[in-house]
Amino acid sequence: MHTLPPLPYAYNALEPFIDAKTLEIHHTKHHQSYVDKLNAALEKYPELQSKTVEGLIKSLDEIPEAIRTTVRNNAGGHFSHTLYWNTMSPTAEEYIPEKLGKAIVETFGSIVEFKEQFSKAAANVFGSGWVWLALSNPEPVEGLVVTTNKKLKIVSTQGHDNPLMTDDKPLMVIDVWEHAYYLHYQNRRPEYIQNWWNIVDWKVVERNYNSLA
Ligand SMILES: [Fe+2]
Repeated sequence: MHTLPPLPYAYNALEPFIDAKTLEIHHTKHHQSYVDKLNAALEKYPELQSKTVEGLIKSLDEIPEAIRTTVRNNAGGHFSHTLYWNTMSPTAEEYIPEKLGKAIVETFGSIVEFKEQFSKAAANVFGSGWVWLALSNPEPVEGLVVTTNKKLKIVSTQGHDNPLMTDDKPLMVIDVWEHAYYLHYQNRRPEYIQNWWNIVDWKVVERNYNSLA
């Protein structure tokens, strides 16, 4: 059984950037419902119940067709939200640790340019989706364009699709579904994105980077 992970901070801890009511509904209703729907879909498939959420997403082709879309959406929702919670913090510092900071500058030219490109991608997601900082998969995968070196990249996805599906490694993510910001920001998604930078936990993002790079 998959379970809802507890938030690593209180519901009001990310204020004023993300309000307590939004965070509570987002976690206890939205994320919980992805976990519940995933468990319900796997009920009749005991052989899939021991797979991790990442394992399910990476092997969607092997999931029975009857539940494949449900697993894609709800395992995706579970995975994406878990990373989103874990890469935000009320004690986030603006400083990006050296190794990750250097890789960002090498890839995007500067930290400012990276943030601009990322924010623009997040503002431009049509409808519901996510924007990720990810590491390209260096392993050759049939049917996919691959790079020979691991490289940072900004990835936009629709619905609950995510970089695991193309064998890239997600490092951090912003949720731009309306449920992530609408109560406080209404239609002002760019303002939510701008404020979100204040709570990005770079220490966790760097840890994710170091575990993969
Ligand atoms: Fe969400």
